[in-house]
Amino acid sequence: MSVQVIPVDGLPEVHPGDELASMLEGPLRALGARSGDVVVVTQKIVSKAEGRVVPDEDRAAWVERETERVVARRGELTIAATRHGFVCANAGVDASNVDGGGLTLLPVDPDGSAERIRAALARSLAIEGIGVVITDTFGRAWREGVINVAIGVAGIPAMIDLRGAPDHTGRALEATIVALADEIAAASGLVMGKAAHVPAALVRGVATGGARAGRGADLVRGPQDDLFRESPLQALHARRTIRSFAPGPVPREAIEEAIRAACTAPAPHHTRPWRFSVLTGAPARRGLLAAIAEAWRADLRGDATPEDVIARRIANSDAVLGQAPALIVPWVSFSGSHPYADAERSHAEQEMFLLSGGAAIQNLLLALHAQGLASCWISSTLFCQEETRAVLDMDDGWFALGTVACGRMPEGGAARPRPPIDLSSFARFD
Ligand SMILES: Cc1cc2nc3c(=O)[nH]c(=O)nc-3n(C[C@H](O)[C@H](O)[C@H](O)COP(=O)(O)O)c2cc1C
Repeated sequence: MSVQVIPVDGLPEVHPGDELASMLEGPLRALGARSGDVVVVTQKIVSKAEGRVVPDEDRAAWVERETERVVARRGELTIAATRHGFVCANAGVDASNVDGGGLTLLPVDPDGSAERIRAALARSLAIEGIGVVITDTFGRAWREGVINVAIGVAGIPAMIDLRGAPDHTGRALEATIVALADEIAAASGLVMGKAAHVPAALVRGVATGGARAGRGADLVRGPQDDLFRESPLQALHARRTIRSFAPGPVPREAIEEAIRAACTAPAPHHTRPWRFSVLTGAPARRGLLAAIAEAWRADLRGDATPEDVIARRIANSDAVLGQAPALIVPWVSFSGSHPYADAERSHAEQEMFLLSGGAAIQNLLLALHAQGLASCWISSTLFCQEETRAVLDMDDGWFALGTVACGRMPEGGAARPRPPIDLSSFARFD
């Protein structure tokens, strides 16, 4: 098999409203386009034709508008996931190769754009088996340099699943799924040099093995399989207190992973003074919440709080803790603290252990977040130590540090932007 990658020359500058397929028709006819050929066009000309060009004024604001989720940030550079799920620099907002200045935004629906071009070319050139790939130039997380990838696909498979097929020794392939459309896109980059101003190419001779046509969206890895969702720094910023949960249980392994992370927190005197009571069964969760509610009700009655206010406050708390499929009660023990004769130092010893509990819980929350889970830390058990110890069968030496409610991320839960942090309120540099 040999593959040819042919530049499509002679395309005029593309403007908003232009019909790309009709502009491509002549040059493709001249190249003798035929069934099995793949026409590759850059995002840049698709975006221009579709009017996805904006003035180059507030670039940062455009990047923010095009961003669904920040993956990493450094200085001016934002690596962001777009609404399509592509992870790329500046959410695909790009200033290169735009005549007269301006920025291009990614097409709203690159697969739809590819399909429209494919259908129009199939009609005008009378070729049914023609494929279209729309490319953009992306950097890669682990490798230097940029490369063309497929963001829109029509008429050809985006991927070829070789799992189960024999390799040349006859051994069955276990994990190989070839990103065919990305390979075509990368090959087209060989003739579509940005500086050379060739925004289209014809790739001939690609073997698809009879696989069905796919879409660029097929190449976007889903969150459940994405091990690299955020940079560590970004994850610290992105964790939020989330008080509602999507239906469904939390996998036990995810909670175990989070507790392991919690147990890496710094603690005084080389201790690990924490325990975690994990309640995922409904009776256990109900038992804890009933004990907390009873203790709280008694406290509030002692304060002469009106019954309707008590009922409302308990109902509000239940609306969060009662909906969570997993409740984790973190505990700290002060038994490792050093004895001192004076109250000040004895108190400071206890505070150190308490602080380590806070550090462990922050790790727990961050690890839940890193696994795509929602959580919130609620004071609750802090105010009813005895009752919590009784219902969770803990010895007197343990101090409950509230309750962490955990569940699946609700729709849009991850996307809430955190207000900017004004450092002058928090830090002083001398
Ligand atoms: C010790 C502690 C107790 C908390 N108790 C509650 C609580 O009882 N109810 C609640 O809604 N949030 C509670 N929170 C969560 C804070 O309200 C939350 O961290 C704050 O709103 C900031 O939100 P963020 O975590 O998204 O930045 C508690 C946080 C801590 C550290």
